[in-house]
Amino acid sequence: MSLFATQAAQQFPASAAAFPIEAVRARFPALERAAPFIYFDNAAGAQAPRIVLDAVARHLLDFNVQRGGRYAKSVEVDRVVTEARSKVATFLGGDDPDEVAFGMNATSFMRLVSLAIGQTITPPRDEIVVTDMDHHANISTWLELAKTGARIVWWKMRDDQRLHVEDLVPLLSERTRLVACTVVSHALGSRVDVAAVADAAHGVGAEVFLDAVHFSPHAPIDVKVWDCDYLVCSGYKAFAPHMGFLWGKLDVLKRLPTFREEFIPDAPPHKIEAGTFVYENVAGMGAAVDYFEALGADLHPGADTARARIVAAMSAIEDYERHLSRTMLAALLGAGATVYGVANPNQAHLRVPTFTFNLPGVDPLAVSEGLAASGVGIRDGHMYAPRLIERLGLTLDKGAVRASLCHYNTTEEIDCFAEVLRGLAV
Ligand SMILES: Cc1ncc(COP(=O)(O)O)c(C=O)c1O
Repeated sequence: MSLFATQAAQQFPASAAAFPIEAVRARFPALERAAPFIYFDNAAGAQAPRIVLDAVARHLLDFNVQRGGRYAKSVEVDRVVTEARSKVATFLGGDDPDEVAFGMNATSFMRLVSLAIGQTITPPRDEIVVTDMDHHANISTWLELAKTGARIVWWKMRDDQRLHVEDLVPLLSERTRLVACTVVSHALGSRVDVAAVADAAHGVGAEVFLDAVHFSPHAPIDVKVWDCDYLVCSGYKAFAPHMGFLWGKLDVLKRLPTFREEFIPDAPPHKIEAGTFVYENVAGMGAAVDYFEALGADLHPGADTARARIVAAMSAIEDYERHLSRTMLAALLGAGATVYGVANPNQAHLRVPTFTFNLPGVDPLAVSEGLAASGVGIRDGHMYAPRLIERLGLTLDKGAVRASLCHYNTTEEIDCFAEVLRGLAV
């Protein structure tokens, strides 16, 4: 059994050959509209399926009012938000919709939770563990707590550019308040064994905050199997519009001191949701979960619950993306690229299809401009991970190139990308 496979995922073995890629692509109108443009910058934001576009448009056309009113349109907004909460809880493998809070983005939730944790830090439990692999949003906000007495402990990647839980264990003690780490690197694509992280952290009485922003479009999330305390996602990385959500264990959220006006109930999710959020985008997030569920129903008609259908879809996506990863690695190595993170095609299970690389002797900017000129959208720079970039021995001004794929990408697109890349190599 793979280190990262969930029990639920094991239920639905899939094969890349069976993945209905053409039917999937047909559900994303943006792909056809932009053709032959190739979307390889999905880590910065993915395209939305028709069902999401329709949900957002319907909301704006018919229900663009404030919730909490007595009239039907306002009641409908409340219903849509409640339903989306329930769908997102199912998407995450949680039981209780009240454990899901909606908001602007992942960064603001990281800030909200870190500000709250900051108020609860007292010696001797005053240490926060952060990693040098994470997006800076899940580092900088915790570093701030050092100003009010927290001690920061660094869990660092090994030279294989992966985080190993064996290295975390000796950093943990009865002083550890929280471990903040990602589920998968948004730059390298390397996965982290987060269930083992939670196990180790809980063993010393600490909490775990997971950044699942980059992971959520790639494979099943299971907050129960992972046993995390908090988890954040950005809808726009998972085929929904720009929005974010926080999940937390109910009792953990109940204890969390958050800012709220006196008339807001001191209970999750309301105590976490300051002010009005973007309802049409929450409607879109609910529809993104519907998209996964419909895909799962197509792939496994026997899957008899919403959660089973979602897991079936995400497992098939994970499997298909492994095939993309192997093909991408062959393409990158064939073009002479230096690939950071897991570069062995036989270890594709340790990564998602997000690749940070450089072409020796070629500026990252020139690579992404060259690809852009040929109709391939990728990204160059520091990927908002300055510490990671430094660990790779790169400079922040140039950084590296990142190509990030998701389940609507194809091996034919990889062939086009590879041909342009080979032409850019010196
Ligand atoms: C892994 C990861 N964490 C956090 C963020 C920040 O997310 P948001 O834009 O929703 O604040 C990103 C955005 O790229 C990300 O990739």
